[in-house]
Formats: sequence, structure tokens, C-alpha cells
Amino acid sequence: METNQSQAPAISVQGLEKSYKDLHVLRGVDFDVEPGTIFALLGSNGAGKTTIVKILSTLLKPDAGAAAVNGFDVATAPGNVRESISLTGQFAAVDEILTGRENLVLVAKLRHMKDPGTIADALLGRFSLTEAGPRKVSEYSGGMRRRLDIAMSLIGNPQVIFLDEPTTGLDPQARLEVWQAVKELAGQGTTVLLTTQHLDEAEHLADRIAILHGGRIIVNGTLAELKALLPPAKVEYVEKQPSLEDVFFAIVGDGGAGLGAAASE
Ligand SMILES: Nc1ncnc2c1ncn2[C@@H]1O[C@H](COP(=O)(O)OP(=O)(O)O)[C@@H](O)[C@H]1O
Ligand SMILES: [Mg+2]
Repeated sequence: METNQSQAPAISVQGLEKSYKDLHVLRGVDFDVEPGTIFALLGSNGAGKTTIVKILSTLLKPDAGAAAVNGFDVATAPGNVRESISLTGQFAAVDEILTGRENLVLVAKLRHMKDPGTIADALLGRFSLTEAGPRKVSEYSGGMRRRLDIAMSLIGNPQVIFLDEPTTGLDPQARLEVWQAVKELAGQGTTVLLTTQHLDEAEHLADRIAILHGGRIIVNGTLAELKALLPPAKVEYVEKQPSLEDVFFAIVGDGGAGLGAAASE
């Protein structure tokens, strides 16, 4: 079975456009994601993040442009793309009536994996859910559910995992737990594309951050590169480094598009 070439990006997006009737949501989106990295797609509510994730996971067809995942074109090889990925949406897809372990076993069986029980136990351990494993998911906290959801999405060892707003609606402690789980994923060589509205989430998790605004990626870089877009910090008594939030509003706010266009790839 063919997989991605050593230097090929895990995700490649070129000139992607999508409209819903008169609403031109994506107006030419370009970015690449290197294998084994965490890429954060940062944008406000309604920016088009989920639209991009749906196109990359073959749930939606673009109007123009091209996208490839794990070396497979979403338009011409959607089956191969689907075999390469997992998708975790904003709303956890776990079954409440089953226990955490039963959820994992069920998915492993659906994916025709050998030894579903062993797979389930390994994942419970990896996401600190061993003790919770025999309990019904209806008794889980939000963070535990989301961790279980991420664990379920790993069954079958997908090369690329899409996490669409993995922490939206979670309390701060649960967010931290999910962040740990996401870091764990990339540590094992999985490529992660996550979407978020939270600047601090992108700042903590991502190797690269792309800001989606006005239907385009207006900035794409490492946190250090994004911070460097702002003028050097003024030194008075205390040097204040710009936060990612400062960068975001400097670019997205009035008159920022030029700065973003000059700096994006
Ligand atoms: N199926 C759809 N039909 C019509 N409009 C849609 C549909 N899906 C999304 N939209 C609109 O497209 C825009 C982008 O949506 P979405 O990709 O979900 O943004 P995000 O995930 O960044 O919040 C929003 O204005 C949304 O209301
Ligand atoms: Mg969304």
C-alpha cells in the first residue's frame, strides 16, 4: 500500500474555494502540513474552519482548487484519503450507554481490528482512562469524554487526524487534559490538524499556526514567526513581548491584511 513519500506534506491544500449559495466562504486557501506535526487552523466562528476539515475528510467537495491527504487527492482517491484519516468533531461521538472500554472495543470491531480488547486497554492507558474504563460514559466529565473520543479516533492508526475544535465547551481543567492528549498524538508521529478559536490553544499546541480570515490564510508560520510580524517590543522598564492575541488583532483588525499578505507564504 502506498503511503506518503518521505518529504511529501501530510496535507496539501491549493487554491481551495467553496461557496454555500451566495456565501463565498473559502476564497483560495493554500497551506501544507508536514508529517508528524501539529498544525492549528485558527479563525473566528464562521471563518470556514469546519468547511476545510470537511473537504479534507472527503465529506464535502470543493468548488475549485486541490487538496491531498497522505499523498492522496481528495477528489480522485477519496477512499484512500478516508483510510488515512480520522475525524473528531466538536461534539463527541461516544455512546453514553456503553462504558469507555466498550466504546473502544466497538470501534475496534467495526474497523475489523484483531484483538479489540487489547487495543482498548492500551488506549485507555495511553489517555489516562484505565480506571474510568469500566464506567458508563454518561458518568464521565467533559474532558474524559473528549479524551475517549480522541482515543477512539486513533483505532486503526490513521496517519492524519483532524480535530475540529477539540476543546470548545470544555472547562479549563478539561482543556488542559485534552491538550495533553493532543501532544501525545503528535509525539507518536501522527499528523494533527486542529481547528480552534482559541489563540492560547494554538500557542500551546501547534508547531505551525495558520490564521483563516476573509476566506484565505492570511498568515502561516511558527509562533515565533507570527510574533516577529509585529514591530519589536518597546523597552521602557519592562519588555513586553506581543502575545499571539496581539498578533491576531494586529493582522485581522483594520488595515492588517497588507501585513498578513506580505508575510504569508
Ligand atoms: N451547509 C451549509 N449551508 C449554508 N451555509 C453554511 C453551511 N455550512 C456552513 N455554512 C456557513 O459557512 C460559514 C463557514 O462555516 P464553518 O466552516 O462551519 O465555519 P467555522 O467552522 O470556522 O466556524 C458560516 O457562515 C456558516 O454559517
Ligand atoms: Mg466549525
